[in-house]
Amino acid sequence: MQPKHHIIIDTDPGQDDALAILLALASPEIELIGICAVAGNVPLSLTQMNARKICELAGKPDTKVFAGAIRPMLRPLVTAEHVHGKTGLDGPVLPDPVMPLQAQYAPDFIIETLMSRPAGTVTLCCLGPLTNIGLALVKEPRIASRIKRIIAMGGGWSEGGNITPVAEFNIYVDPQAARLVFDCGAPLTLIPLDVTHQALTTRKRVEKFRKMENRTGPAVAELLDFFERFDVEKYGTDGGPLHDPCVIAWMLHPELFTGKDVNVAVECESELTMGQTVVDWWRVTSRPHNAHYVRGIDHDAFFKLLTERLATLA
Ligand code: RIB
Ligand code: CA
Repeated sequence: MQPKHHIIIDTDPGQDDALAILLALASPEIELIGICAVAGNVPLSLTQMNARKICELAGKPDTKVFAGAIRPMLRPLVTAEHVHGKTGLDGPVLPDPVMPLQAQYAPDFIIETLMSRPAGTVTLCCLGPLTNIGLALVKEPRIASRIKRIIAMGGGWSEGGNITPVAEFNIYVDPQAARLVFDCGAPLTLIPLDVTHQALTTRKRVEKFRKMENRTGPAVAELLDFFERFDVEKYGTDGGPLHDPCVIAWMLHPELFTGKDVNVAVECESELTMGQTVVDWWRVTSRPHNAHYVRGIDHDAFFKLLTERLATLA
């Protein structure tokens, strides 16, 4: 099958990032040009290591993995070991990677790819703080008009925040980078907590991974066993929200989701509401509709896609 999607994944693995990367690696519709690690859930030294561990788990050691920003553009780094564990991939014991880390700095790889590939053909799938994308946009503003689409997990409106009462983690960690991305003019799809909180890793769904015949399935079940405990405790739900794989699933099957083109702005001044995404869902301002904001998901179909695809990996 000729790949329909030519993508760069920008990520801070993270158990949910891991499932998004696995879904991309398992999808023949996708050419994964490279994976860019960024500081977020855990420091960069771990996220770049985790990205490679995930590729090797999937049996795809030839994937190109790059390291990017060691901290947000302006603010100090805030991490989330309380959710993802000390390693960022707590759950299964995954061997240290053998595959190499690419020498090129991730923002430079993003610029080089976008400037060399035909305009409008590369999609950026963003699963962590948007620092690498922000840096690339500042260094080479011409990339903005060459990006096919940015699909980013981040923000929230009706669901509020998950790191502060009003801010979602990826945006909160680097709100200035998020503002640069939201205002750059590239087509943008935002996958916020409003929709990811409907994609819960229920026991029944986790057991489907555990029962898989390959090594990826049981490892994924162990990742989710660890990952969901924080959100189950906090929200009292049957399972935790599987945020990042929704980015890849929306790209593959947008018909499983619903949303609307609206204006989304980011709070970058007030410490009280830092990183809040101000979503003009009812279009009460004249601000431009800079984002397709996703709020609905067919979560049964989403997990069916995830389960079917991950079963095809090593
Ligand atoms: O708020 C959820 C997001 O923050 C997810 O991408 C998770 O991996 C963390 O990066
Ligand atoms: Ca993430």
